[in-house]
Amino acid sequence: MNDRIEWVRSSCQLLARIGREFEQTQPFRGLTIGTGIHLEPKTVALILVLQQGGAEVVATGNLNTTQPAAVDYVRARGIKVIGQPTSDPDQHGSYQRQVLAEKPDLLLDNGGDLFDLFRQNRYDGLLGGSEETTSGRMRLAPLRDELRMPILVINDSPIKQFAENEHAVGQSVLESYMRITNRVTNGQCVTVFGYGACGRGVAANFKAAHSRVSVIDRDPVKRLQAHLDGYATPARDAAVASADLIVTVTGAPRVLDARDLLLFKDRVLLVNAGHFPWEIDRAALIGNPTTLEAKRTGDGIESLRLTNGRVVHLLAEGHMVNLAGPRPLGNSIESMDLGFALQARCLEAVARGEATADACVVPVPRAIDERVAAAYLDLCYPPGSAGP
Ligand SMILES: NC(=O)c1ccc[n+]([C@@H]2O[C@H](COP(=O)([O-])OP(=O)(O)OC[C@H]3O[C@@H](n4cnc5c(N)ncnc54)[C@H](O)[C@@H]3O)[C@@H](O)[C@H]2O)c1
Repeated sequence: MNDRIEWVRSSCQLLARIGREFEQTQPFRGLTIGTGIHLEPKTVALILVLQQGGAEVVATGNLNTTQPAAVDYVRARGIKVIGQPTSDPDQHGSYQRQVLAEKPDLLLDNGGDLFDLFRQNRYDGLLGGSEETTSGRMRLAPLRDELRMPILVINDSPIKQFAENEHAVGQSVLESYMRITNRVTNGQCVTVFGYGACGRGVAANFKAAHSRVSVIDRDPVKRLQAHLDGYATPARDAAVASADLIVTVTGAPRVLDARDLLLFKDRVLLVNAGHFPWEIDRAALIGNPTTLEAKRTGDGIESLRLTNGRVVHLLAEGHMVNLAGPRPLGNSIESMDLGFALQARCLEAVARGEATADACVVPVPRAIDERVAAAYLDLCYPPGSAGP
């Protein structure tokens, strides 16, 4: 595992550059940063860059995702890690409260838990921080009047939208499908539910892998966009009935449920890439009388035998296929390097007082987006290089 962490760290070139700069500039000297983000190889790279910038870091992970080797790795380098891997929300909450008991000056939040807990039990000295996700933004935005401090939302950066949600999710869903099933993409009928940033990436990657892709979105504007991008946009049930592979990536619950059991083509594969495991209602599919039997038929594959003789395969029990399936790698290192460079620069701006209380739950400032984009391009085309 340490090999993987070292590989990820050495591949995060933007973070490495920022780390070298922070060693000189020390934006976080004398400050404590509390983090509540997944503890896995890519976040390790970010946490250690904050430490290079002079921060004392007190970290805890997220539900279900903490990797013990990542914890050992950062602990050995002087990071205070609270807690251990857990899927118990109460225990997870107690770890987060222990992070806040250290009275961090800055918070790096993922889902809004830390800022919400701070609001309920305030202490002096919190300068503000960053929030990684859309769900965190939706949770914290109504609390602006109470929070009144700079909180910069990374997911709302256009860079995060196109680099991670579109390109990286699309690639890693395709990679996960092939890794888990070892099945062909060419000539397969693939139906993608949801044509937001993630769905666009999923559709584009399967199209590039020679699948015939249909798109279903409840928003007619998105369906028009998919149509003009060259995808079929048939009626929903027709798209379900003709698919060899169905990918849900909408954020909405019960996109596929028991009503679809008699529509599914024999041997269809069901894959979810949306954040919550509710997009494919696994319990309803398995619990319906139409399903005679559900059993594991491969690593990360469950197969349902139906009364009509057909078989339906579900990958990763309906959890995010690129993060929850067997041997998950998640999104590409470079896409995370970009997102975490935004994180490091946003926390730096808050630490330096460059973001005011008016910037409470707002997108990444344009100047930071431009700086991170220019730095990435600079790595791709070093000054003096001839270009492609
Ligand atoms: N797997 C990953 O690594 C990863 C990474 C980032 C985001 N996500 C998750 O992927 C999901 C989609 O993210 P996004 O950024 O594309 O969101 P988005 O809001 O940009 O797009 C979602 C699309 O789904 C459509 N939609 C909603 N409900 C629908 C339904 N019942 N049927 C058909 N279409 C429906 C919406 O109209 C919208 O166009 C979210 O849950 C997000 O958290 C996953």
